[in-house]
Amino acid sequence: MILIIQLLLLISPSKTKAAEFDVGALPGCPDSCGGVTIPYPFGIGPNCSLSEVFELICKATINGTFAPHWGDFMLLDISLTLGQARMTNPISSQCYNRTTKKENYNDWKFDSGAFWFNHEKNKFFVIGCDTLAYVNFTNDENSYLGGCVSGCNSLETLTDGSCSGIGCCETSIPKGPYYLNFWFDDNFNSSMVSNFSPCSHALLREEAGFMFNTD
Ligand SMILES: *[C@@H]1O[C@H](CO)[C@@H](O)[C@H](O)[C@H]1NC(C)=O
Ligand SMILES: *[C@@H]1O[C@H](CO)[C@@H](O)[C@H](O)[C@H]1NC(C)=O
Ligand SMILES: *[C@@H]1O[C@H](CO)[C@@H](O)[C@H](O)[C@H]1NC(C)=O
Ligand SMILES: *[C@@H]1O[C@H](CO)[C@@H](O)[C@H](O)[C@H]1NC(C)=O
Ligand SMILES: *[C@@H]1O[C@H](CO)[C@@H](O)[C@H](O)[C@H]1NC(C)=O
Repeated sequence: MILIIQLLLLISPSKTKAAEFDVGALPGCPDSCGGVTIPYPFGIGPNCSLSEVFELICKATINGTFAPHWGDFMLLDISLTLGQARMTNPISSQCYNRTTKKENYNDWKFDSGAFWFNHEKNKFFVIGCDTLAYVNFTNDENSYLGGCVSGCNSLETLTDGSCSGIGCCETSIPKGPYYLNFWFDDNFNSSMVSNFSPCSHALLREEAGFMFNTD
């Protein structure tokens, strides 16, 4: 699940495009991590980036391979030319536990800080049955509440490759840096469909074909 963050560096007096920095890493600083090239203004470790905002950590993933991380996010690539970085993003989920008959929630919050979500390439996706998930984007100027509902009666009604409100719904996201949080409406739950779809997921991701079977 991939999230694209736009690199619009706000440097006074006018907006500077990320592509204007095209100098590789600073001298004495690592220029890659796990095969991912790290161009300045990003950098690994102290004094290797433009500011703390661009400071990355090179650490082992669950596979034992190394990858650059920005907070909890794993970076897949950074393109100064496109002015964007692609990173994996955490997924919020709601799962019905048939043993305890309780709904378990795992919500996430995220502050994009100096970065912008690429609103043309990312969407808010909700995958699951009988679920209503919300996303709240707020910053000093704006607040935007989005949400979508996904329902399905049986596995047969699900179609691979489409995201139409049956098993999957999607909604666009606003442009800008935001603090955002995701949550599920507890009036909707998967107790009725728990035999085939105990979990629902909410995430931001790159627009792409949708397959129901996520894990
Ligand atoms: C980073 O730069 C500051 C200020 O120049 C210096 O005090 C500090 O020791 C440097 N840190 C490292 C790890 O080089
Ligand atoms: C772990 O390895 C698998 C298979 O090579 C790959 O698909 C997956 O993206 C890797 N995960 C991480 C976190 O690197
Ligand atoms: C359901 O809850 C029980 C008791 O807390 C736990 O042992 C079990 O792993 C849970 N099942 C799932 C699918 O999360
Ligand atoms: C699930 O939703 C049904 C119908 O809205 C409700 O009666 C039930 O209490 C809910 N269960 C949980 C665990 O939230
Ligand atoms: C959206 O998030 C902001 C900041 O966390 C909060 O103040 C606001 O109440 C939230 N809006 C809704 C509709 O939950």
